[in-house]
Parts: sequence; C-alpha cells; structure tokens
Amino acid sequence: MEKLVIRGDHNLHLSGEVRISGAKNAVLPAIAAGLLTSEEVRLSNIPRVKDVETILTLIAELGGTYTIDGDTVAIRVSKIRSDEASYELVRAMRASILVLGPLVARFGKAVVALPGGCAIGSRPIDLHIAGLQKLGATISLEHGYIQAQADRLRGAVIEFEKKTVTGTENLLMAAALAKGETILKNCAREPEVADLAVLLNKMGAKIEWMGEDTARIRGVRELGGAAHVIIPDRIETGTFLVAGALASGDFLIRNVCPEHTAAVIEKLRASGAIVETDGENALRVAGSREVKAQDITTSPYPGFPTDMQAQFMVLLTQAAGTSIITETIFDRRFSHVNELVRLGASIEVQGDKAIVKGKTLLSGAEVIATDLRASAALVLAGLVATGETTINEIEHLDRGYERIEDKLRGLGASIERVKA
Ligand code: EPZ
Repeated sequence: MEKLVIRGDHNLHLSGEVRISGAKNAVLPAIAAGLLTSEEVRLSNIPRVKDVETILTLIAELGGTYTIDGDTVAIRVSKIRSDEASYELVRAMRASILVLGPLVARFGKAVVALPGGCAIGSRPIDLHIAGLQKLGATISLEHGYIQAQADRLRGAVIEFEKKTVTGTENLLMAAALAKGETILKNCAREPEVADLAVLLNKMGAKIEWMGEDTARIRGVRELGGAAHVIIPDRIETGTFLVAGALASGDFLIRNVCPEHTAAVIEKLRASGAIVETDGENALRVAGSREVKAQDITTSPYPGFPTDMQAQFMVLLTQAAGTSIITETIFDRRFSHVNELVRLGASIEVQGDKAIVKGKTLLSGAEVIATDLRASAALVLAGLVATGETTINEIEHLDRGYERIEDKLRGLGASIERVKA
C-alpha cells in the first residue's frame, strides 16, 4: 500500500509545463474493440494507469495476446479460450462490461459478471442488456453473471432511455458486426464515444452520425486491424486546470484538446481564472487572487462533466460566497465531501446538491480516498491546505492518473509517494 504526502500552501505557486496522458475512458473501449477482429489493433498514446493493466489482463484471460512498447499497445485476439469475464476482474473495474458487446458479436457468447455498485452510485447496466436483446441476443442473469448468446446479432432500431457512455460504446461495437442496419438513438456524445467510432470505422465498420446523437451502423461480416492514437484525457486536463486556478503563477498544459474541455474552461473563466489556448493542443492557465462563487450542474457531454465535479468543488471552497453543485448523473457522488470537510471546508449535502460556503482556509490532515475523482479532489485540496495532508488508499487514484505526483512536483508542488 502507498500513500501521498503533500505539503500544502495557501499561497500555492505553480509554473512550468505538464503533458497530459491519453484518455483512460477512450483507451478502455478501444482495447475492448480488439476483441472484434483476429487482426492486430495498435493503440498509441495510451496512459500507463491501473485500469489499462486490468483490461489487458482480461483480454489475456479471454485468450488474446498483447505487447506493450512505450506508450503503444498491440492487441491480437485470433481466437478465445474463454468467454467469461470473472467477477474478480469486473469488481476491480466496472468498465470490464465493455467486453460484453464484442464477445457476443464476434463469438456469439459472453459470460460477464454483473458489476456491483461502487462509491459513486448503483451503476446499473440495464440499458446495455436491453440494447443487446434488441439486437437478438438471449440474455439471462444467473448467479451474479450476465449470460448472453446469439447465433448472429441482427440490426435493429434502439433508443437509449438515458445517455450511457459505455452503453453506447457496447452497442456500437455489437452493431458493427450485426447482420443489417442498426440505428442507435439518444447516444452519449462524449469524445471517447466519438473516438471509438473513428477506430471502428478504421477497422472496417460502417458507422455514421446522423444528427447529434443518432448513429447509423451498417453491419459487416468481419472487421480488420487498425492503428489508432488515443485522444488526450479531458478529465486529467480539467484536473490540472483546476490546480492552476487554485494557484498563483501560470503554467502550460500540453497534449490537450481544448474543445473537449470547453464546459470546464467556461466555468473556470467565470470563476476568475485565466485560461488561454496556446497553439493547437496546449492551454495556459493562471489563477486569480479572488475566486468567484459558481453554481455547477453536471450533465452529459457537452455539459459540465460529472467526472470534474469533485475537483471543481475544491476550487469553490476557495471562492468568497456560496456555490451550489448539483450532481445529476450519479446518485451518490459526494463521498469526497466528508473528507474535504475534515480539511476545513464548509460543505453541506442536501439530496443531489452540495452547498459550498467559502472562502475557507484549508488545513492539512490525514484523509482517505474513496474513488478515482474524489482522490484527485483530495490531492488538489492538499496542495492549498497549510501543513501536511496524507492521502491513503491511493490505488483509486492510480486507476486513472499516470504519475500525478511527478507531474505536480514538476510544476513546483511539494508532493511525494511513500510506503503506507
Ligand atoms: C462512464 O461510465 C465513465 N467511465 C465514467 O467515468 C463517467 O463518470 C460516466 O461515463 C458518465 O460520464 C468510462 O467511460 C469507463 P453511464 P458509465 O453509463 O458508462 C445510468 C471515471 O471517473 N445508467 O454514462 O458507467 C447510470 O447509473 C468514470 O473515469 C443506467 O441507468 O456511465 C448513470 O446514472 C467514473 N443504466 C448514468 O446512466 C445503464 O444501463 C450515466 O452512466 C447504464 C447507465
């Protein structure tokens, strides 16, 4: 076990530059897409994070092979020796559900453990299952596993009751190999979904977007290999932008897609931070002396991302006045509040809202991370809390951030990873 020890400063000063890694939530479906073909799929700009290791372990357990060379992974699934994604792996990472669609589509069978809930909510997968049933899969839920079978999936018209990122990704992959045409309505529009469609089309799929959230997929008999560069991680970008907004000084954030972070940048500018594009794929950020209170409501892309809610809450503890954060995506995504209160924040949760009163000067303490983005929020809070903050159980953080302590230290923060 390891922990992070941060020596924070109310007058945090950051400068220099940091490079953003590839998007965790883009590389996971892209790796799952490797199940759809017997040829090699090469993905570069992959983040070296725990979730990538987990899904590659799952691919290997299913019978695929992979090699990693620097930031590139090459996957090949010529055949499978198992069609089961075990509870142990699915429990470790709910995104393992992304193998369900590809396994049924290419091999006609999948046995995937039902992902449980997690720290941010109940996380059902009823929309994934309903979509696959519409494509002709026979699905039963037995002993905590999804048993799915289909001789060959058949195209259908499917309208998602609500926007689901991995649900859309599962159905895009399944429909790519279905017989006939599929229309997916009310798709999630996150950049990671769009990037998966780009990869699938490189592999020979016939996916086209009709209007903003409708996809038409003409199924093909088989898909081929492809090479693809993973898009930058817009949530890591947002996390570093908030760090900049909390600090004096300014720094450059390289390897970003500014338009993927537009909703966060808009709110940061409204809070007083300076955020400027610097060339095609870099942003420069500087904090302001006075942080202005903001009301935030999370919503599906292109709205304010739920994955940035915890991080932005830290900035709002430094704003003079009252800010109201409304979390509309998950039913329990305020577990970071209790830990932030222990650092001195004044936050009250009322149903789907968190009422943040600022400005509160934070003071260092020992805290525990409960999920990936809550962990990132605690790191940001530790940077501006006087004294020492120790963050335990940082395995959550390592699931989605690549060497965050090295990146922050490179900007001037006092943070190190030590044995717990
Ligand atoms: C993806 O999770 C992301 N994970 C999450 O990021 C992100 O928070 C979430 O999308 C929302 O943007 C990956 O891409 C690997 P959803 P996902 O299906 O697909 C409900 C992170 O920190 N729903 O879009 O699991 C669901 O309960 C992670 O990187 C159903 O009701 O989320 C939620 O309320 C955390 N039935 C809403 O839809 C379903 O079948 C959105 O969930 C599916 C979802």
